[in-house]
Amino acid sequence: MLNYPMIRHMEHTIQYMKAFCKDKGIASITPSSTFAVKRICNKIDFTKDRVIVECGPGNGVFSFALLRRLNSGSKLILIEANRDFAGYLNRRIRDRRVAVFHDNAINIHSIVNQCEIKTADYVILGIPFSFSDHGQNHSIIAHCKQALKKGGKLLVYQYSPRIKKYLRKHFDHIHLEMEVFNIPPLFIFETTH
Ligand SMILES: C[S@@+](CC[C@H](N)C(=O)[O-])C[C@H]1O[C@@H](n2cnc3c(N)ncnc32)[C@H](O)[C@@H]1O
Repeated sequence: MLNYPMIRHMEHTIQYMKAFCKDKGIASITPSSTFAVKRICNKIDFTKDRVIVECGPGNGVFSFALLRRLNSGSKLILIEANRDFAGYLNRRIRDRRVAVFHDNAINIHSIVNQCEIKTADYVILGIPFSFSDHGQNHSIIAHCKQALKKGGKLLVYQYSPRIKKYLRKHFDHIHLEMEVFNIPPLFIFETTH
C-alpha cells in the first residue's frame, strides 16, 4: 500500500524529472533520500536558534526537514537557481522563518546580508560542481566561507568527491562520509570555519 510520504516522494520525483528535462543544472532526477537528509540534519545542533543557508534546495526535501527541527527564532535562507523550484518553494513554504531567493549560490554572502544577518551558523551546499568552471567553484566555496560565522559549519553533499580540492583550499579540516542509501550514493563533506 502506498502511504502519504511515498506519494509525496513520487510527486517530488516527477517534478524533478520534468525540471531536469528543461534544466540540466539540476543534476538529478530524484530528490535526496530520507537517509541522506537525516544524516546531514544529525550534524546540526538544533538546541538553539540558528541561521541556516541552504544552497540548491530543489523542491525542498532538506528545507522541510530543517523546518521541522528548527526553533521558532531561527532563520532558513534558501538560494535556488532554478526558477520553477524557487517559485514552488515560495508557494509551498508559508513560514516566517524562511526567505527564498531565486539566485545563484555565488551571491550567498550578499544575500545573507540582505536578510540583515551578518553570518550563518550552517551552510548546506547541494549544488552540482561538475558543470561550472574552476573559477566559479572556488568562488562559491570562498563566498560560503565568508557567509559563515567563526565555528560555523559548511555541509556539502555531492555525487562525486571532486569538490574536495576546492574545499581544501579554504578549509583546514574536512570530514568525509558516504551515504549509500541514496540514488546515486552521496559524498558528504563536513568542514568548520
Ligand atoms: C542535485 S539538486 C539537489 C536538490 C535538493 N537539495 C535535494 O537534495 O534533493 C541541485 C539543486 O541545486 C540547484 N543549483 C544548481 N546550481 C546552483 C547555483 N549555482 N546556485 C543555486 N542553486 C543551484 C539546482 O537547480 C538544483 O535544484
